[in-house]
This record gives sequence, C-alpha cells and structure tokens, in this order.
Amino acid sequence: MSASSPFPSGHDRAATVTRLRAAGCVFAEDEARLLISAARTPATLAALVDRRAAGQPLEHVLGWAEFCGLRIAVDPGVFIPRRRTEFLVRRAAALARRAAAPARQDRARPHTVVVVDLCCGSGAVGAALAAALGQVELHAADIDPAAVRCARRNVAAAGGQVYQGDLYGALPARLRGRVDILAANVPYVPGGKVGLLPPEARAHEPRVALDGGADGLDVLRRVAAGAPLWLAPGGHLLVETSERQAPLAAEAVGRDGLICRVAHSARLNATVVIGTRQPGPGA
Ligand SMILES: C[S@@+](CC[C@H](N)C(=O)[O-])C[C@H]1O[C@@H](n2cnc3c(N)ncnc32)[C@H](O)[C@@H]1O
Repeated sequence: MSASSPFPSGHDRAATVTRLRAAGCVFAEDEARLLISAARTPATLAALVDRRAAGQPLEHVLGWAEFCGLRIAVDPGVFIPRRRTEFLVRRAAALARRAAAPARQDRARPHTVVVVDLCCGSGAVGAALAAALGQVELHAADIDPAAVRCARRNVAAAGGQVYQGDLYGALPARLRGRVDILAANVPYVPGGKVGLLPPEARAHEPRVALDGGADGLDVLRRVAAGAPLWLAPGGHLLVETSERQAPLAAEAVGRDGLICRVAHSARLNATVVIGTRQPGPGA
C-alpha cells in the first residue's frame, strides 16, 4: 500500500470480509465496515480482525455497542447491552416524564427525576435514560469493578455517579425514599442454563452478569424486596425478565406492596415487570 493510497484498499476490504466469513461471522460485510472504520492502520485492522475471528464479541473488539442510538463504551469482560433492553428504557422514560411534570401545586418548578440504574454493567440503561430525558439526577451501581470503570465513562456526560457494591449496599443512604425510576436489568439466566448460552456470552461476559441462580430470579427477588425502601412515593421499579419468568417475577415485585404490571414487546422479544410504590397523600 502506497502512502497516498486510501486505507484500506479494495483488496484489504474483500480480504477482511472473507476472513470474517470464514470465522463464521454472519454479518461479515457490516462487521468489516465497522472494523475498518475503527482501524487507523493495516496493522491495527489485522489485530482487530484477529480478535474477532478468534470469537471475541464485535462490541468488545470495537470498544462500543450501539444502544438507544448512543455509542456506549463496552470494555472486554463487561456485559454488552442488548437491543431488547431498549424496551425497558422506553418504558422507564415514559414513566419518568410523568414524574417530571410540574406538580399541580408548583407548576413553575418541574421536578428533577431521580434515576437509579442498579446492576448497571456498562451504564447503558442510565446513560440512555439521561439522554432521553435531559435533566436527571442519575446514580448507577454494580458489583463488578470492571463494569463500574466502564459505567463511569458512559454516565459521566450526564453528570451521573457510579458506585461499586452489592445491590442497594452500594447506594448512598440519602437516596432512600427518593428514587423515581429504579431500573434494574439484573442477571436472570437460570444457573443451569448459562452453559447453553451462545459462546460469545459464555466465554466473554462475566458469569456474575448472567447467572440469576436456580430459577434465574435470585437477584431480581433481592432487588424487588429492597425497592419499597428506596422508591419515592409513586416511584417505579422496572426489571427485565424472560416471558416465561414473568409470572414469578411479578409475584416477587408485588410481594412487598408495589402495584405490579407486566409489559411485553413482541418486536424486541422483551418483557419488563414494573412495580409502582403507592403515591403519597396529595399526589
Ligand atoms: C445482565 S447484566 C446488565 C447490565 C446492564 N444493566 C445492561 O443492561 O447492559 C447484569 C449486571 O448486574 C451486575 N450484578 C450482578 N449481581 C450484582 C449484585 N449483587 N449487585 C450489583 N450488581 C450486580 C453484573 O455485574 C452485571 O453488570
């Protein structure tokens, strides 16, 4: 390749597609385009293609995933946000907009919505909510230090805070009773089924991000049990589950007095259980 030739040449492009196809990448042309645009030199491109051909998820190789129209930074070893979770974001954003509407008695001062992204992984859910809503008070937490490092980059633009620790134990106590939107895309794969996941998930995403215990609902039950203490009156908990798990998940969410409903998107194959704390008097 001469110094004046555009990078990469048509030959490099075709070779990249061929290599990706041979490695089993179904969308080899699209992936080649993304990898080429991420590489500044032929050597970098070769290294990226090697990683992808060896089975690393495309998002880990690129260093980002598209989510709700945003580029979310995703480091190797961090859960890659799934397209279906955009449904949870949309439902949460709709509920948050209602919470932000000026209170009847104080129309001049819209309420700044308090959003918590629990089990935040890369922070995709919180970042997308902040982008959709504009002004929010955003907090995110995860138990995994790699996820927390990654989330800090993604939620910084929204002025969000990210904490490390076990569920609510990571959050500052001052948030108790103040959270308008508690979004939690927890791990919900039944432990015995983690081995059946596609290799990209099994080998490249941490088990703590996938394994939800015997029936997949261990973490969800803990989140549901703690939610009434942290939600503001009228605040909402939103958790993603599979359609099959939804009845048990709804039972867990409704157990401690939250008003519970299940929402489903056939298009995204996404199910979200929503639990709402009773509004306070005068709301
Ligand atoms: C399915 S991933 C979802 C990540 C992110 N919310 C998303 O949708 O992309 C679940 C996340 O929960 C975190 N997690 C698992 N158990 C946790 C716990 N006890 N406390 C806090 N985070 C936990 C994992 O580290 C992982 O990042």
